Amino acid sequence: MTAPKLFSMVAAAVLLAANLSAQTPAHTFAIGTNDFLLDGARFQIRCGEIHAARVPKEYWRQRLQMAKAMGLNTVCAYLFWNLHEPKPGEFNWSGQADDAEFCRIAQEEGLWVILRPGPYACAEWEMGGTPWWMLKDDGVKLRSRDPRYLDAAKNYLKEVGRVLGPLQITHGGPIIMAQVENEYGFYGKDTQYVDELRKALVDAGFDVPLFQCNPPDQMKNGLLTNLFQAGNFGSSVKNNFAKVRKIQPVGPLICSEFYPGWFDTWGQPHHLGKPENYLPNLKLMLDMDASFSIYMAHGGTTFGLWSGCDRPFKPDTSSYDYDAPISEAGWATPKFFQTRELLARYLLPGEKLPEPPAQNPVISFAPVELNQVAPLFENLPAAIKDETPRNMEAYDQGYGCILYRTRIPAGAATTLEATAIHDFGFVFIDGKRVGILDRRNANAKISLPAREKEAQLDILVEPMGRINFGPEMSDRKGIIAPVKLGGEVLKNWEIFNLPLDAQMVSLLQTREMPPIKFSSGKTDLPAVWRGTFKLEKVGDTFLDLRSWGKGDLWVNGHCLGRYWNIGPSQTAYAPGCWLHAGENQIVILDLLGSESHTIAGLEKPILDELRPEKDFQKAHRPAVKLNLQSAALANTGTFAPGADTQEIKFAAPVSGKFFCLEALTAQDEKPYAAIAELDLLDANGNAISHNGWTIAYVDSEERDKEDGSAENAIDGQTANFWHTQWGSASPVYPHELILNLGKSQTVSGFRYVPRQGGDSGRIKDYRILIGDNLVQPK
Ligand code: GLA
Repeated sequence: MTAPKLFSMVAAAVLLAANLSAQTPAHTFAIGTNDFLLDGARFQIRCGEIHAARVPKEYWRQRLQMAKAMGLNTVCAYLFWNLHEPKPGEFNWSGQADDAEFCRIAQEEGLWVILRPGPYACAEWEMGGTPWWMLKDDGVKLRSRDPRYLDAAKNYLKEVGRVLGPLQITHGGPIIMAQVENEYGFYGKDTQYVDELRKALVDAGFDVPLFQCNPPDQMKNGLLTNLFQAGNFGSSVKNNFAKVRKIQPVGPLICSEFYPGWFDTWGQPHHLGKPENYLPNLKLMLDMDASFSIYMAHGGTTFGLWSGCDRPFKPDTSSYDYDAPISEAGWATPKFFQTRELLARYLLPGEKLPEPPAQNPVISFAPVELNQVAPLFENLPAAIKDETPRNMEAYDQGYGCILYRTRIPAGAATTLEATAIHDFGFVFIDGKRVGILDRRNANAKISLPAREKEAQLDILVEPMGRINFGPEMSDRKGIIAPVKLGGEVLKNWEIFNLPLDAQMVSLLQTREMPPIKFSSGKTDLPAVWRGTFKLEKVGDTFLDLRSWGKGDLWVNGHCLGRYWNIGPSQTAYAPGCWLHAGENQIVILDLLGSESHTIAGLEKPILDELRPEKDFQKAHRPAVKLNLQSAALANTGTFAPGADTQEIKFAAPVSGKFFCLEALTAQDEKPYAAIAELDLLDANGNAISHNGWTIAYVDSEERDKEDGSAENAIDGQTANFWHTQWGSASPVYPHELILNLGKSQTVSGFRYVPRQGGDSGRIKDYRILIGDNLVQPK
């Protein structure tokens, strides 16, 4: 469809909406040939993203006032389907899930709303917002026209229309636009699927302009020409808008996700946005008359067990501070004031910036003892019996932990092995911890000691959030069977569901728990710890978890999220609105055991303390021996300069378990190599799933001055990148990055995304080696 037709269609929709509206809209919004039009006048959208679910409801107004005071005129909000439909057909729009109220407050504070209802959101949220119960069906194809997915998605969108439809600008509300799907171009090419969702939104009563968003390089996949196209990027503004222009020759320009920082994952360095990137690019967009949405203006916290996981397996922290201009606790950062000062120069006629609201009070408290404890194994629910263990969803459980128990015979030391473990399996023999099955390792395998007599084997599985991005999203949890002892399949299991749901948590808050009985107060057994602390007055605080191991915590029944002593976050944000003057209760489920049983409240968060020495995966990168001569040379060549994605086809497909990209020279002849993203292509030229991939070897990576971890090259995200060291050392070429593909794969070519937003590290000459024995343990 041609562009003029696009915009006349949008105008027709607006007219139609005006006729349908019960209330005469006070304002109109449309997409013109050059500008967004509010009441017919040019409207530069200065937007920022805030997720209602990531901010305590009591603080929504304060955060929206902050957004307004920063100079924004619009707020962008995802909805998370799994928060709104916890069970099929049972919808929840109350409390933290009351997004209609969030929109009403935004309107009262003078902000417009861009709604991104999903069904898929991404957003470092559990399974990208997809309900876990979708995975009860083994064959379901997510984000596709598979009726098992699409019918449920349409039903959800209908409900979204019922609740939020009346809040569109066409009906007197603040919602000016709504998004269809999310960065679908990263995932698939089925335009009919996108069109089904577009129609579902229209059928649900959405009569504001609808749009699609994608990084410009992905826009052509699943492109619907009757939708407005918005681009997501964090750098190279001119170049990226030029790419959008090729696809959409007319219409206003908008960067629908502009990144001021980035999210954190466990065990990887804390992310800070690059100051030289953020403000100049924001200014450039303002000068170009373009619109933007800062992702995130305020990230907040992924409370509960809602944090997601990046590809192939990089679980996200509960803090979603994002180095955003408004901090996790709602504070104005230097970036906030810089943004405010900049945006103040671009106000529309008649606009005035309000002063920022007062910051919420902050408190601290001295360490208090959690002096009641309930070892998990002494407090189990009734068991389910099963011949061989199945994944957690098969037992109708969505979240929490799950314990698998069986008996094993006496015998010599041997190996215990599962097909896969999602995500951590703490293994106990007769109640003593003997090892940990760890999804970050390529093998779900550990050595078991000799047993003199028959023994009880327990595998306590802790799932982290489900992957929220890419084809690995069907991330079933628990044990992926069979489980073998010395090669023999183990049978006759008992399964204990520990869903950590409201019912279980209320039991943990109230049940009898004896005062501490471990002599030193230390244990490595999984246990629930409980204690109280008294406050004279309430305020926001940050609970210091540095002496705890790994688990989840609740304050007065509110789940503050997950914690893990490896960092980078070492504190949990406890909002003052969830605390009481007087007595407050803390419940902690620690799966590893703690070094002490006290907890303190700090005045500042600790978001950047990595402690690799605490990790039970002994080394961040285990030492290996390289055996590159054993490999087949699949390809050798020269990459083009610039930031564009390059697809290389081999003369003939090559098979192997390891894929090595050896970078031989740099475009700028400096010693650094960087890669934003690598995809491998199967025999049909389609990208191979990253499921089970690990980094087998990398010769150098920067982890101090920035997060240049090699995992960034295979996480599907093009905004971050692997980068060789440049802080304390600058090792020279060649540089090798070797992927362990989990199993032998046939590779016919690969796709290389150069580092974005900066030339340094772009590779020139390279060679590709593929084989089964490129890397051996040392
Ligand atoms: C993408 C997604 C967002 C978010 C960001 C990274 O652009 O669209 O939902 O996941 O990446 O924070």
